[in-house]
Formats: sequence, C-alpha cells, structure tokens
Amino acid sequence: MKISVIGAGNVGSLTGLRLAQENLAEVVLIDVAKGIAQGKAFDMEDARSLLNINYSIQGAEDIQNIKGSDIIVVTAGLARKPGMTREELLAKNAQILKDICLNIKKITPEAIVIVVTNPVDLMTYFALKVTGFSPRKVIGMGVTLDASRFANLISKELDVPVTEIEAFVIASHGEGMLPLARFTKVRGKPLDTLLNKEKISGLIKKTVGRGAEIVALFGTGSAYFAPSAAAFDLVKAVAKNESRSLGVAAYCVGEYGLKDICIGVPALIGRRGIEKIIELDLNREESEFLNNSAEAIRKNIDSLKSFFA
Ligand code: 2OP
Repeated sequence: MKISVIGAGNVGSLTGLRLAQENLAEVVLIDVAKGIAQGKAFDMEDARSLLNINYSIQGAEDIQNIKGSDIIVVTAGLARKPGMTREELLAKNAQILKDICLNIKKITPEAIVIVVTNPVDLMTYFALKVTGFSPRKVIGMGVTLDASRFANLISKELDVPVTEIEAFVIASHGEGMLPLARFTKVRGKPLDTLLNKEKISGLIKKTVGRGAEIVALFGTGSAYFAPSAAAFDLVKAVAKNESRSLGVAAYCVGEYGLKDICIGVPALIGRRGIEKIIELDLNREESEFLNNSAEAIRKNIDSLKSFFA
C-alpha cells in the first residue's frame, strides 16, 4: 500500500510519521516548499531502525510523486493565527487546494482522499466537487479530533481514565460543533447522568475553544499532536478496512435531513471510504443545533462556488 500526505507542515509530517510507525504502507510526503518534505523524510527514515519501520518514507516537491497512492491525506494550507476562526482561512486554502485536487483527480483517480485542511467541512465539500469523486471516497477529519479533546477534558473532570470514555461530537469542526453529552459514555454511562448541566456546558465550551486555546498559546501555528493522531486514526480505519464508526465530515444525501453538504457525522469507515453514515436519534434541541451548524456551513459554500469554476 502507498499513502501520500500532501503538506509536510506539522500536521502532515507527524501524520506521515505515525503512519510509518504503524508499518501500514510506503509513505510519501509532498510539499511545495523547497526541500522541506525531502528533509523531513530523510530525518524520519533515519529513525527507521530505532522505530522498527520497514517501509520507505519519501519526500518531494512534485505532486506527480503521489502516483499509485491508495490513500491521499491533504493537510496543505494555512493554519490559523491567534484570534482567527477556521472559516477565515476559506479563500486562501481553497486556492491552494484547487490545484492539488485537480492533480489528485488526474494522477490517482482510484484513491481515497482524507481532507484535514481547514475549514475542514468546507474543504471536504470543495475537494469532492473539484475531484468529482464519489462522496464515499472523500472524507474530512474534524470531529474525531473534537471528540478526543472532549474525552480528555471529561477524563480530567471526573478523574476517569480517558480510555474508558467514548465521546461523541457531531456538526461542524468549528464554532458550530456539537459535543453530545447524551451519547457520550463514561464507563458505559451517559455523561448527562454523571454531571450537571452547568458542568457539561463548561466542558463543551472548553472543547469548542480548545483549538483556539492552543493557537493562542503557540502564538503562531495551530495544534498538531492531536490533529495528526486523529488523521492517522482515520487513515488506519481505511487502510485496515476496519469498518469502524468514526466522526467524519461526510457528504450527506438526506441523512439527518441534510443534503448537498459535508458536515461532521458518525460513519462506518473502511477500505472503500465511507460505508454508511450512522443516524443518531437526536432530540429536538440537538437537531436544531445541527441544522443551524449546517446553515452556517451552507452560507460559506456559496462563497466557495467562485473557486469551482
Ligand atoms: C484544530 O482544531 C487544526 O483544526 C485543527 O486544532
């Protein structure tokens, strides 16, 4: 198997290393910045003997090197600066992704595409429209990262090992994300039976703001340890044909009453990409929140349309 990661910044390169460490596939890093991808690939290959990695890790500037890839992970694009929302990256990152997606369409028409670039729900939709691929093959990474952050914060609040928490987040990977306390389980018990409303809304607020909190602490650039772990986890589900339920930005064709939009929903992920979107039995308040989140994405889809042509 061959997996290419486009964009060898912090998220891209760390995703590549995590994939290599899993001995999943030959890894190729691509970055337009001169020497960066090759330098990082050399550095990673130098660690192969220490980390017991057998596959090669290559780096290149030329996107033609993705040829023959089974999975492409797109992380290229600008990251947020302190005070910015993910949506403010829209125009610049659409410009960057357009050429990349046209190349993916031409060079690897069979590949599964995993989009990590922000704003991820919109960039997933954009990648889908530009490649013209089947919606099952274009998957956005966002809400699994948010769920992992939610789980971490719950673990600290309740002093329970994070591995015993199954957190659920849906809707957009942005201000409109919806951490679902009713579906989130701690040692099998719903979170809303363990904490009062106030505590839960505090945890939700922290989860929504976690990415921005880290951006503010860094001063420049955004989070990469957890984002690359979430990207890795998604690629692994595809590469190993796990048919596992993961929160992803998926193209909806009527699920949750939503159409022609990519938004965070739980879905079964396997070798062919999105096997099935899972419809949770949302209550009225949760459905309304999801619809509002979808509306906010839709407004930005309109401004994306100028980049399709
Ligand atoms: C984050 O939430 C980069 O969107 C990513 O940190």
